[in-house]
Amino acid sequence: MAERLTVSSIRRMKESGERVAMVTAYDATFARLFDDAGTDMLLVGDTVGMVVQGHTSTLPVTMDHMVYHCQAVVRGSSRALVVCDLPFMSYQVSVEKALENAGRLLAEGLCQAVKLEGGQRSAPAVQRIVEAGIPVVGHIGLTPQSVNALGGFKVQGREAAQATRLIEDARRIEDAGAFAIVLETIPAGLAKSVTEAVSIPTIGIGAGVECDGQVLVCYDMLGLFDTFVAKFVKRYANLGEATREAVRAYVSEVKERTFPGPEHSYT
Ligand code: KIV
Repeated sequence: MAERLTVSSIRRMKESGERVAMVTAYDATFARLFDDAGTDMLLVGDTVGMVVQGHTSTLPVTMDHMVYHCQAVVRGSSRALVVCDLPFMSYQVSVEKALENAGRLLAEGLCQAVKLEGGQRSAPAVQRIVEAGIPVVGHIGLTPQSVNALGGFKVQGREAAQATRLIEDARRIEDAGAFAIVLETIPAGLAKSVTEAVSIPTIGIGAGVECDGQVLVCYDMLGLFDTFVAKFVKRYANLGEATREAVRAYVSEVKERTFPGPEHSYT
């Protein structure tokens, strides 16, 4: 069995110029498939609230949900570094609460690192968690937990002042000790500047090709989630349609009494 990648292996990838491939996972079966396919990092994202639970935002996701899905993803994988999201209000109230919840994701969820959203405002929490020996991934740009303050899922950093603030945010998160940082839905040129401004790997989603790595939501890239498809999503498969076709065939065979056949029955 291959050994799990570590925080140091991910940091070295930036130094050597090898791109980091990250994808979200929420259960053991998908985690095993993505691990077999060579994914470097699995993100137990709070997007679970949208693509699995059917909410319109990530806000209703709780710590208990994250622990449950994290355990499943860790059980299903053996090589990828597993990062679990700290959900809404699990780290914003105080740095002590942030540390307690990050610790819970490692101790109960069994992941290797946690991710939290926000630039300067989240730097004290990042620093406290890192000081306790817990690796942290930052997340700036479009931060979905702030969807109500941002006025929707919109491109961030188009204005010069906002772009400057984002570069400063990335530096603050690096200084606080994060080992990588997700850049979500920002112009490709700005993502390139952020990537050059920090020494930790940047992992882009809707942030162009110049980031040190990429992350996609697995339900998006596999064509399973079609409620809303962002411009940055590339569909590598259409499992949504394949699933409908397979279940249509099953329903019709059940109705016609051709399933189960003798080969699926016991004598
Ligand atoms: O929760 C998630 O899936 C994420 C990605 C969008 C990066 O944070």
